[in-house]
Amino acid sequence: MLSWPEQVVRVQSLSESCIRAIPNQYIKPLTERPVFKPGSQVHQHADIPVIDLHNLFNKDPALHLDTLSRISAACRDWGFFQAVNHGVSHELMRRACQVWRDFFNLPLEVKQEYATNTPATYEGYGSRLGVEKGAILDWSDYFFLHYLPVSLRNQSKWPEQPSSCREVIAEYGGEVVKLCRMLLKAMSTDLELEEEYIENAFGGDNMGACLRVNLYPKCPQPELTLGLSSHSDPGGITILLPDRDLARLQVLNNGHWITVNPVPDSLIVIVGDQIQVLSNAIYKSVEHRVMVSSAKDGVSLAMFFNPKSDLVIEPAKEVVSEERPALYEAMTFDRYRLHMRMKGPCGKARLESLKVNTP
Ligand code: OGA
Ligand code: NI
Repeated sequence: MLSWPEQVVRVQSLSESCIRAIPNQYIKPLTERPVFKPGSQVHQHADIPVIDLHNLFNKDPALHLDTLSRISAACRDWGFFQAVNHGVSHELMRRACQVWRDFFNLPLEVKQEYATNTPATYEGYGSRLGVEKGAILDWSDYFFLHYLPVSLRNQSKWPEQPSSCREVIAEYGGEVVKLCRMLLKAMSTDLELEEEYIENAFGGDNMGACLRVNLYPKCPQPELTLGLSSHSDPGGITILLPDRDLARLQVLNNGHWITVNPVPDSLIVIVGDQIQVLSNAIYKSVEHRVMVSSAKDGVSLAMFFNPKSDLVIEPAKEVVSEERPALYEAMTFDRYRLHMRMKGPCGKARLESLKVNTP
Protein backbone atom coordinates (compact mmCIF):
# COMPACT_ATOMS: atom_id res chain seq x y z
CA MET A 1 0.00 0.00 0.00
CA LEU A 2 3.07 2.22 0.15
CA SER A 3 3.66 2.74 -3.53
CA TRP A 4 1.82 2.91 -6.83
CA PRO A 5 1.61 -0.37 -8.79
CA GLU A 6 2.74 1.15 -12.08
CA GLN A 7 4.65 4.17 -13.20
CA VAL A 8 2.42 7.21 -12.71
CA VAL A 9 1.79 9.10 -15.95
CA ARG A 10 0.75 12.76 -15.86
CA VAL A 11 -2.43 13.13 -17.87
CA GLN A 12 -1.46 16.74 -18.53
CA SER A 13 1.72 15.51 -20.26
CA LEU A 14 -0.29 13.06 -22.34
CA SER A 15 -2.68 15.82 -23.29
CA GLU A 16 0.13 18.19 -24.22
CA SER A 17 1.88 15.53 -26.31
CA CYS A 18 -0.85 16.07 -28.94
CA ILE A 19 -1.76 12.40 -29.27
CA ARG A 20 -4.86 11.84 -31.41
CA ALA A 21 -5.99 8.67 -29.62
CA ILE A 22 -5.95 8.12 -25.88
CA PRO A 23 -4.01 5.14 -24.46
CA ASN A 24 -6.07 2.00 -23.81
CA GLN A 25 -5.66 2.39 -20.07
CA TYR A 26 -8.03 5.38 -20.17
CA ILE A 27 -10.76 3.82 -22.31
CA LYS A 28 -13.79 3.03 -20.17
CA PRO A 29 -16.02 0.01 -20.75
CA LEU A 30 -19.04 0.92 -22.92
CA THR A 31 -21.49 1.05 -20.01
CA GLU A 32 -19.38 3.58 -18.12
CA ARG A 33 -18.76 6.05 -20.93
CA PRO A 34 -20.51 9.38 -20.78
CA VAL A 35 -23.41 9.60 -23.17
CA PHE A 36 -22.00 12.03 -25.63
CA LYS A 37 -23.85 14.19 -28.08
CA PRO A 38 -21.12 16.23 -29.69
CA GLY A 39 -22.06 19.85 -30.19
CA SER A 40 -25.27 19.53 -28.24
CA GLN A 41 -26.13 22.19 -25.70
CA VAL A 42 -26.35 21.24 -22.07
CA HIS A 43 -29.73 22.00 -20.63
CA GLN A 44 -30.02 22.56 -16.95
CA HIS A 45 -32.35 19.94 -15.57
CA ALA A 46 -35.35 21.90 -14.39
CA ASP A 47 -35.36 20.53 -10.86
CA ILE A 48 -31.68 20.69 -9.93
CA PRO A 49 -31.77 22.35 -6.52
CA VAL A 50 -30.25 25.83 -6.31
CA ILE A 51 -30.49 27.21 -2.78
CA ASP A 52 -29.98 30.76 -1.61
CA LEU A 53 -28.36 30.45 1.83
CA HIS A 54 -28.76 34.12 2.69
CA ASN A 55 -31.64 33.49 5.11
CA LEU A 56 -30.31 30.34 6.73
CA PHE A 57 -29.76 32.11 10.04
CA ASN A 58 -32.30 34.87 9.65
CA LYS A 59 -34.01 35.78 12.93
CA ASP A 60 -37.34 35.61 11.13
CA PRO A 61 -38.39 32.00 11.71
CA ALA A 62 -40.37 31.80 8.46
CA LEU A 63 -37.35 32.74 6.33
CA HIS A 64 -35.07 30.44 8.31
CA LEU A 65 -37.46 27.50 8.00
CA ASP A 66 -37.96 28.04 4.30
CA THR A 67 -34.21 27.77 3.65
CA LEU A 68 -33.91 24.80 5.97
CA SER A 69 -36.71 22.95 4.19
CA ARG A 70 -35.02 23.46 0.83
CA ILE A 71 -31.75 22.07 2.18
CA SER A 72 -33.67 19.19 3.70
CA ALA A 73 -35.40 18.27 0.44
CA ALA A 74 -32.15 18.51 -1.54
CA CYS A 75 -30.25 16.27 0.90
CA ARG A 76 -33.06 13.70 0.97
CA ASP A 77 -33.94 13.62 -2.73
CA TRP A 78 -30.67 14.48 -4.48
CA GLY A 79 -27.75 14.34 -2.06
CA PHE A 80 -26.48 17.61 -3.45
CA PHE A 81 -27.37 21.21 -4.26
CA GLN A 82 -25.89 24.35 -5.72
CA ALA A 83 -25.52 27.07 -3.09
CA VAL A 84 -25.68 30.79 -3.81
CA ASN A 85 -25.21 33.59 -1.27
CA HIS A 86 -23.04 31.09 0.58
CA GLY A 87 -20.86 33.71 2.25
CA VAL A 88 -17.60 32.81 0.47
CA SER A 89 -16.24 35.83 -1.38
CA HIS A 90 -16.60 35.49 -5.16
CA GLU A 91 -13.36 37.34 -5.65
CA LEU A 92 -11.58 34.84 -3.38
CA MET A 93 -13.14 31.95 -5.31
CA ARG A 94 -11.72 33.37 -8.53
CA ARG A 95 -8.31 33.90 -6.95
CA ALA A 96 -8.29 30.35 -5.58
CA CYS A 97 -9.07 28.95 -9.02
CA GLN A 98 -6.45 31.11 -10.64
CA VAL A 99 -3.57 30.14 -8.34
CA TRP A 100 -4.28 26.49 -9.05
CA ARG A 101 -4.46 27.08 -12.80
CA ASP A 102 -1.11 28.84 -12.46
CA PHE A 103 0.27 25.95 -10.42
CA PHE A 104 -0.70 23.37 -13.04
CA ASN A 105 0.82 25.60 -15.72
CA LEU A 106 4.24 25.45 -14.02
CA PRO A 107 6.88 23.26 -15.68
CA LEU A 108 6.58 19.57 -14.87
CA GLU A 109 9.86 19.54 -12.90
CA VAL A 110 8.49 22.10 -10.46
CA LYS A 111 5.28 20.14 -9.90
CA GLN A 112 7.27 16.93 -9.55
CA GLU A 113 8.81 18.33 -6.36
CA TYR A 114 5.40 17.63 -4.81
CA ALA A 115 5.10 14.19 -6.36
CA THR A 116 5.91 12.43 -3.12
CA ASN A 117 2.28 11.42 -3.32
CA THR A 118 1.68 7.81 -2.17
CA PRO A 119 -1.47 5.74 -1.80
CA ALA A 120 -1.08 5.91 1.99
CA THR A 121 -2.11 9.56 2.27
CA TYR A 122 -2.51 10.91 -1.27
CA GLU A 123 -0.88 14.15 -0.13
CA GLY A 124 0.78 16.10 -2.91
CA TYR A 125 0.75 16.03 -6.71
CA GLY A 126 -0.85 12.89 -8.10
CA SER A 127 -2.58 11.29 -11.04
CA ARG A 128 -4.37 8.17 -9.93
CA LEU A 129 -6.81 6.89 -7.34
CA GLY A 130 -6.50 3.27 -6.33
CA VAL A 131 -3.63 0.80 -6.52
CA GLU A 132 -5.00 -2.01 -8.65
CA LYS A 133 -2.51 -2.93 -11.33
CA GLY A 134 -3.95 -2.54 -14.82
CA ALA A 135 -7.01 -0.56 -13.62
CA ILE A 136 -8.69 1.73 -16.14
CA LEU A 137 -7.61 5.24 -15.16
CA ASP A 138 -9.31 8.62 -15.12
CA TRP A 139 -8.32 11.53 -17.33
CA SER A 140 -7.13 13.87 -14.56
CA ASP A 141 -4.28 14.97 -12.34
CA TYR A 142 -4.73 16.41 -8.86
CA PHE A 143 -3.13 18.04 -5.88
CA PHE A 144 -4.24 16.85 -2.46
CA LEU A 145 -3.55 18.62 0.84
CA HIS A 146 -4.67 18.61 4.47
CA TYR A 147 -6.26 21.74 5.88
CA LEU A 148 -7.76 20.44 9.15
CA PRO A 149 -7.11 19.32 11.80
CA VAL A 150 -4.39 21.87 12.35
CA SER A 151 -2.09 19.05 13.56
CA LEU A 152 -2.10 17.61 10.02
CA ARG A 153 -1.72 20.95 8.27
CA ASN A 154 1.79 21.10 6.89
CA GLN A 155 2.23 24.13 4.70
CA SER A 156 5.62 22.94 3.52
CA LYS A 157 3.70 20.31 1.54
CA TRP A 158 1.57 22.99 -0.15
CA PRO A 159 2.88 24.54 -3.38
CA GLU A 160 5.42 27.27 -2.83
CA GLN A 161 4.67 28.65 -6.30
CA PRO A 162 2.79 30.67 -7.41
CA SER A 163 3.96 32.92 -4.59
CA SER A 164 0.45 33.64 -3.25
CA CYS A 165 -0.61 29.99 -3.32
CA ARG A 166 -0.25 29.12 0.39
CA GLU A 167 -1.87 32.33 1.50
CA VAL A 168 -4.82 31.89 -0.86
CA ILE A 169 -5.35 28.27 0.20
CA ALA A 170 -5.37 29.32 3.86
CA GLU A 171 -7.85 32.12 3.23
CA TYR A 172 -10.13 30.05 1.01
CA GLY A 173 -10.01 27.13 3.45
CA GLY A 174 -11.01 29.39 6.32
CA GLU A 175 -14.10 30.68 4.52
CA VAL A 176 -15.19 27.27 3.31
CA VAL A 177 -14.82 25.82 6.83
CA LYS A 178 -17.24 28.50 8.08
CA LEU A 179 -19.73 27.54 5.39
CA CYS A 180 -19.32 23.86 6.21
CA ARG A 181 -20.00 24.43 9.94
CA MET A 182 -23.13 26.39 9.05
CA LEU A 183 -24.38 23.60 6.81
CA LEU A 184 -23.66 20.87 9.36
CA LYS A 185 -25.71 22.82 11.91
CA ALA A 186 -28.57 23.17 9.44
CA MET A 187 -28.46 19.45 8.59
CA SER A 188 -28.35 18.45 12.28
CA THR A 189 -31.34 20.67 13.02
CA ASP A 190 -33.30 19.27 10.10
CA LEU A 191 -32.56 15.71 11.28
CA GLU A 192 -33.91 16.70 14.72
CA LEU A 193 -30.51 16.28 16.30
CA GLU A 194 -28.70 18.79 18.52
CA GLU A 195 -27.40 21.64 16.41
CA GLU A 196 -23.77 20.60 17.02
CA TYR A 197 -24.45 16.88 16.64
CA ILE A 198 -22.81 16.15 13.29
CA GLU A 199 -19.88 18.43 13.92
CA ASN A 200 -19.23 16.78 17.28
CA ALA A 201 -19.65 13.31 15.77
CA PHE A 202 -16.94 14.30 13.30
CA GLY A 203 -14.59 15.37 16.10
CA GLY A 204 -15.40 19.10 16.57
CA ASP A 205 -12.18 21.04 16.16
CA ASN A 206 -10.44 17.83 15.15
CA MET A 207 -12.72 17.29 12.17
CA GLY A 208 -10.78 16.59 8.98
CA ALA A 209 -10.77 18.93 5.99
CA CYS A 210 -8.75 18.15 2.87
CA LEU A 211 -8.58 19.94 -0.42
CA ARG A 212 -8.28 18.07 -3.68
CA VAL A 213 -7.71 20.27 -6.68
CA ASN A 214 -8.58 18.41 -9.85
CA LEU A 215 -7.08 19.22 -13.24
CA TYR A 216 -9.01 17.90 -16.22
CA PRO A 217 -6.72 18.33 -19.24
CA LYS A 218 -8.12 18.52 -22.77
CA CYS A 219 -8.83 15.08 -24.12
CA PRO A 220 -8.79 14.11 -27.81
CA GLN A 221 -11.49 11.43 -27.31
CA PRO A 222 -13.74 12.68 -24.51
CA GLU A 223 -16.52 10.26 -25.47
CA LEU A 224 -14.39 7.28 -24.44
CA THR A 225 -13.31 8.29 -20.96
CA LEU A 226 -14.10 10.25 -17.80
CA GLY A 227 -12.22 12.88 -15.81
CA LEU A 228 -13.40 11.19 -12.66
CA SER A 229 -15.32 7.92 -12.61
CA SER A 230 -18.59 7.42 -10.82
CA HIS A 231 -18.28 7.57 -7.04
CA SER A 232 -19.86 8.97 -3.94
CA ASP A 233 -17.60 11.01 -1.68
CA PRO A 234 -16.59 8.80 1.26
CA GLY A 235 -16.54 11.60 3.86
CA GLY A 236 -19.13 13.92 5.40
CA ILE A 237 -19.79 16.77 3.01
CA THR A 238 -17.86 18.18 0.08
CA ILE A 239 -17.90 21.80 -0.97
CA LEU A 240 -16.98 21.94 -4.62
CA LEU A 241 -15.92 24.96 -6.58
CA PRO A 242 -16.66 23.74 -10.09
CA ASP A 243 -15.00 24.79 -13.26
CA ARG A 244 -16.41 28.19 -14.14
CA ASP A 245 -17.37 27.87 -17.75
CA LEU A 246 -18.05 24.29 -18.64
CA ALA A 247 -20.65 21.80 -17.45
CA ARG A 248 -18.64 18.70 -16.61
CA LEU A 249 -20.19 17.33 -13.46
CA GLN A 250 -22.95 14.74 -13.71
CA VAL A 251 -25.04 13.43 -10.83
CA LEU A 252 -27.08 10.24 -10.76
CA ASN A 253 -30.71 10.89 -9.92
CA ASN A 254 -33.41 8.22 -10.21
CA GLY A 255 -31.14 6.17 -12.42
CA HIS A 256 -30.39 9.04 -14.84
CA TRP A 257 -27.13 10.92 -15.27
CA ILE A 258 -27.93 14.61 -15.12
CA THR A 259 -25.41 17.26 -16.15
CA VAL A 260 -25.01 20.14 -13.74
CA ASN A 261 -24.68 23.49 -15.43
CA PRO A 262 -22.89 25.59 -12.81
CA VAL A 263 -24.77 28.67 -11.67
CA PRO A 264 -22.29 31.60 -11.70
CA ASP A 265 -20.48 32.08 -8.36
CA SER A 266 -22.19 29.09 -6.79
CA LEU A 267 -20.58 26.37 -4.71
CA ILE A 268 -21.80 22.81 -4.98
CA VAL A 269 -22.60 21.00 -1.75
CA ILE A 270 -22.26 17.22 -2.00
CA VAL A 271 -23.58 14.86 0.68
CA GLY A 272 -21.01 12.14 1.42
CA ASP A 273 -21.33 8.58 2.71
CA GLN A 274 -20.69 9.42 6.39
CA ILE A 275 -23.77 11.65 6.46
CA GLN A 276 -25.83 8.91 4.84
CA VAL A 277 -24.63 6.51 7.57
CA LEU A 278 -25.11 8.97 10.42
CA SER A 279 -28.62 9.92 9.24
CA ASN A 280 -29.46 6.24 8.69
CA ALA A 281 -30.15 6.99 5.01
CA ILE A 282 -32.58 9.86 5.64
CA TYR A 283 -29.99 11.84 3.67
CA LYS A 284 -28.43 10.19 0.61
CA SER A 285 -24.91 10.55 -0.65
CA VAL A 286 -24.94 11.29 -4.37
CA GLU A 287 -23.18 9.28 -7.03
CA HIS A 288 -21.38 11.63 -9.39
CA ARG A 289 -18.75 11.70 -12.13
CA VAL A 290 -16.91 14.20 -14.31
CA MET A 291 -16.76 14.42 -18.11
CA VAL A 292 -13.82 15.86 -20.05
CA SER A 293 -13.71 17.99 -23.14
CA SER A 294 -11.61 18.18 -26.29
CA ALA A 295 -11.84 21.96 -26.35
CA LYS A 296 -11.10 23.11 -22.81
CA ASP A 297 -9.19 21.97 -19.78
CA GLY A 298 -10.65 22.62 -16.36
CA VAL A 299 -9.78 23.00 -12.70
CA SER A 300 -12.09 22.27 -9.76
CA LEU A 301 -11.50 22.62 -6.02
CA ALA A 302 -13.12 19.96 -3.84
CA MET A 303 -12.91 20.55 -0.09
CA PHE A 304 -13.81 17.37 1.78
CA PHE A 305 -15.03 17.55 5.37
CA ASN A 306 -14.51 14.24 7.11
CA PRO A 307 -14.81 12.66 10.52
CA LYS A 308 -11.55 12.59 12.48
CA SER A 309 -9.98 9.44 11.13
CA ASP A 310 -10.18 7.25 14.25
CA LEU A 311 -13.77 8.09 15.18
CA VAL A 312 -16.43 5.44 14.76
CA ILE A 313 -19.37 6.63 12.66
CA GLU A 314 -22.72 4.89 12.95
CA PRO A 315 -26.39 5.78 12.55
CA ALA A 316 -27.32 8.33 15.27
CA LYS A 317 -29.32 6.72 18.09
CA GLU A 318 -31.90 9.51 17.68
CA VAL A 319 -32.79 8.46 14.13
CA VAL A 320 -32.84 4.72 14.82
CA SER A 321 -36.03 3.07 15.99
CA GLU A 322 -37.65 -0.35 16.07
CA GLU A 323 -39.42 0.41 12.78
CA ARG A 324 -36.26 1.79 11.30
CA PRO A 325 -33.31 -0.12 12.70
CA ALA A 326 -29.72 0.88 12.01
CA LEU A 327 -28.99 0.17 8.36
CA TYR A 328 -25.21 0.34 8.55
CA GLU A 329 -22.39 -1.22 10.45
CA ALA A 330 -20.32 1.13 12.64
CA MET A 331 -16.87 1.87 11.28
CA THR A 332 -14.00 4.30 11.72
CA PHE A 333 -13.52 6.70 8.83
CA ASP A 334 -9.93 5.52 8.45
CA ARG A 335 -11.11 2.02 7.72
CA TYR A 336 -13.99 3.19 5.55
CA ARG A 337 -11.87 5.29 3.22
CA LEU A 338 -9.30 2.54 2.67
CA HIS A 339 -11.63 1.23 -0.01
CA MET A 340 -11.37 4.46 -2.07
CA ARG A 341 -7.63 4.55 -1.47
CA MET A 342 -7.14 0.97 -2.64
CA LYS A 343 -9.78 0.57 -5.34
CA GLY A 344 -10.37 4.11 -6.55
CA PRO A 345 -13.86 5.33 -7.53
CA CYS A 346 -16.46 2.50 -7.47
CA GLY A 347 -19.91 4.08 -7.46
CA LYS A 348 -21.55 3.43 -4.09
CA ALA A 349 -20.16 -0.10 -3.65
CA ARG A 350 -18.42 0.70 -0.37
CA LEU A 351 -21.54 2.04 1.29
CA GLU A 352 -23.55 -0.94 0.06
CA SER A 353 -21.02 -3.26 1.68
CA LEU A 354 -21.75 -1.67 5.07
CA LYS A 355 -25.45 -2.53 4.97
CA VAL A 356 -26.71 -4.69 7.82
CA ASN A 357 -30.47 -4.24 7.32
CA THR A 358 -32.61 -3.29 4.36
CA PRO A 359 -34.97 -0.36 4.79
C1 OGA B 1 -14.31 14.95 -6.30
C2 OGA B 1 -15.32 15.35 -7.29
C3 OGA B 1 -15.98 16.88 -9.04
C4 OGA B 1 -15.38 17.89 -9.95
O1 OGA B 1 -13.19 15.52 -6.33
O2 OGA B 1 -14.63 14.05 -5.49
O3 OGA B 1 -16.34 14.74 -7.35
O4 OGA B 1 -16.14 18.57 -10.62
N1 OGA B 1 -15.03 16.39 -8.10
O5 OGA B 1 -14.15 17.99 -10.01
NI1 NI C 1 -16.63 13.54 -5.62
